[in-house]
Amino acid sequence: MIYLDNAATTMQKPPCVARAVAEALTSLGNASRGAHEGALNSNRLLYRTRGKLADFFGCPKSEQVIFTNNATEALNIALNGTIRAGDHVIMTALEHNSVLRPLYRLREERGAELSLVPADGRGCVDYAAFERLIRPNTRAIVCTHASNLTGNMLDIARIGGLAAARGLLLIVDASQTAGAVPIDMARSGISILCFTGHKSMMGPQGTGGLCINGDIEVEPLKVGGTGVQSFRTAQPREYPTRLEAGTLNGHGIAGLAAALDFIRSTGVEAIRAHELALARRFYEAVVGIPGVRVYGDFSTWDRSPIVALNIGELDSAWVCDELARGYGIATRAGAHCAPLMHRALGTEEQGAVRFSFGYFNTNDDADAAAEAVGAIAGGNE
Ligand code: ALA
Repeated sequence: MIYLDNAATTMQKPPCVARAVAEALTSLGNASRGAHEGALNSNRLLYRTRGKLADFFGCPKSEQVIFTNNATEALNIALNGTIRAGDHVIMTALEHNSVLRPLYRLREERGAELSLVPADGRGCVDYAAFERLIRPNTRAIVCTHASNLTGNMLDIARIGGLAAARGLLLIVDASQTAGAVPIDMARSGISILCFTGHKSMMGPQGTGGLCINGDIEVEPLKVGGTGVQSFRTAQPREYPTRLEAGTLNGHGIAGLAAALDFIRSTGVEAIRAHELALARRFYEAVVGIPGVRVYGDFSTWDRSPIVALNIGELDSAWVCDELARGYGIATRAGAHCAPLMHRALGTEEQGAVRFSFGYFNTNDDADAAAEAVGAIAGGNE
């Protein structure tokens, strides 16, 4: 199979990831729940990995790196934990349902007010809209770093500058960029960064986290056992314990730590250059094919390695199946959990076929995918 669904999850991982998970399965006890070697192994792993992640994302305090099961959980914690009754939140049309649904629920349950920065037909936003939408009760700007549908990136440092100047929180969904695009929270003015481990971080599914920059009170989404302060009725207030009730996915985190080592030794810039070169090779091969419509802003290659397209009026799910069955190429079709983005692109009915490139893809993969698109488009003329 030629795997071009890396925006959903990376399936080819560095070999060190599987080795680290296998080793962890038989060497990790439960962190903070004992003083024997197994429990200490687990504590050491968590401590080291928090430090590496803090360093990697420019989060000033490693104890404010919180482990979660994925970006969705991280976003739920960040949003539910900071948005109060009557607060106003600014979001964008690029958002995934992992941002939209928690916000819609906060609107219903806490009376949060929401404003949307719209996107044009290429999926681009007008940055002046962020400033125009600010109200006296605005608490946060919540936005993705890159659209999971078009691959367009938002200028986070620019939005961060505005948020800092106006005293707002900036909560960023880095699902599509963590590990593949350099991120410096402190420099970009990101208050809370939410990431997943299984996409461009190249770690196992069931890993992810949020990094909190500065003195921000995030209330816990779940409470329970922490291994410390057991006679208190309330959840401990100290980070990271405050937001990490229950046993963590230590085995997955061992894999994530190995993946992070791989990324750091390979270099984020080298990974980014490789993935973008493949996306560009594919884009340039398909963009001129009669009947092919590509979505997104390709006037810049400061983007994610994603190319979403349609072929004539063919249903995107049909094309995706045809690519898988006829050509052995894995892509993702449909709505991609990004309803507002599809609405902006005018693809609510048809959806789109998304090709997303990863570090282990090759030029041959990109060429084979472009040939397959050409053949399907040719057969559709
Ligand atoms: N959010 C993931 C995607 O874009 C699953 O495919």
